[in-house]
Amino acid sequence: MNEKVRQETNEPRNSPSKAKWILPGLLALAVLSIYYLIKGPTKRLTMTHAEWDEFIKLHPYEAPSLGASRSPCPFLNTFANHGILPRTGRNVTYDDYYRALTLAGASHQSSSLFLHTVFYAYKEIDPTQPIKSDWTPATSISLHQLGQHNMLEHDLSLSRLDVSKQPDFTIPNSDLVLSLMAMADQTSNMVGEEQVGDFRRKKWIEAIETQSNYHFGLLYQFTGGFECLLLLDFLGHDHQISANHLESFLLKERIPDDWYPMEKPLPAWTIYKRVKSCIKSVRKSNT
Ligand code: HEM
Repeated sequence: MNEKVRQETNEPRNSPSKAKWILPGLLALAVLSIYYLIKGPTKRLTMTHAEWDEFIKLHPYEAPSLGASRSPCPFLNTFANHGILPRTGRNVTYDDYYRALTLAGASHQSSSLFLHTVFYAYKEIDPTQPIKSDWTPATSISLHQLGQHNMLEHDLSLSRLDVSKQPDFTIPNSDLVLSLMAMADQTSNMVGEEQVGDFRRKKWIEAIETQSNYHFGLLYQFTGGFECLLLLDFLGHDHQISANHLESFLLKERIPDDWYPMEKPLPAWTIYKRVKSCIKSVRKSNT
């Protein structure tokens, strides 16, 4: 564009001195972000059993008050019912979620990565604001916002009916949870990967036969595998959960008196293997 036309259209000209710093600036920012993500905090984020015993005394269960916001996630609702997350479930900040996740045993790296994605993905964009404002994360996310269907929330959950049968994702379904508990091993009373796989597959086949509009695509194979890990290794321990703890978290959304969070985050390799194994267990099931 020549100078004359530029002046006529009033188009600002990119200052070459500014433009040449944009790319190195962005690169430096990316390198710094990766460095801080990998480096992580110096202090321990989990609690010992003794520390948890003191902590939970200060966080007793209270049923959600009228108008409180709740999510489709049993863990987040349970932590809100104990005031570890805000009891109202409203305007929950990045730091609130980060504390809850790392307290439950998630590593700094996986918590930061997951929460950064969530805080961008769930940010509502304001059409009256300039496009550059789209690139800032949400300042907070209330728990009910996580119920947006087919984002993180999906059909074929372990504790909720599909959206076409029960649009209110905050309500756990007692028949579902009781039938999962009934699958527990008769001797140990534990639910493991095999039972979760059988349960999911049964629900999946029923959905194929009776519903025309459910969705459980490729993305949700991974989500389902992760939720199996969260259930069996974060709410349960060592890839299994007792039927009583399962009922407490999934149905009552209350921390069992004899429960402890993980003392040390699981190694990334263990997480990978267990999620993979959870995904496969649905396909291997004979139900
Ligand atoms: C260590 C921390 C966490 C644990 C142990 C956990 C546990 C679980 C479990 C077991 C489920 C499956 C429930 C079911 O199938 O009925 C689930 C679902 C869900 N979680 Fe979490 N969760 C954690 C953190 C989070 C966080 C940080 C978010 C978002 C900010 C989140 C959002 C969700 C959502 C939206 C669902 C619903 C998926 C569905 O439709 O079934 N969770 N979570």
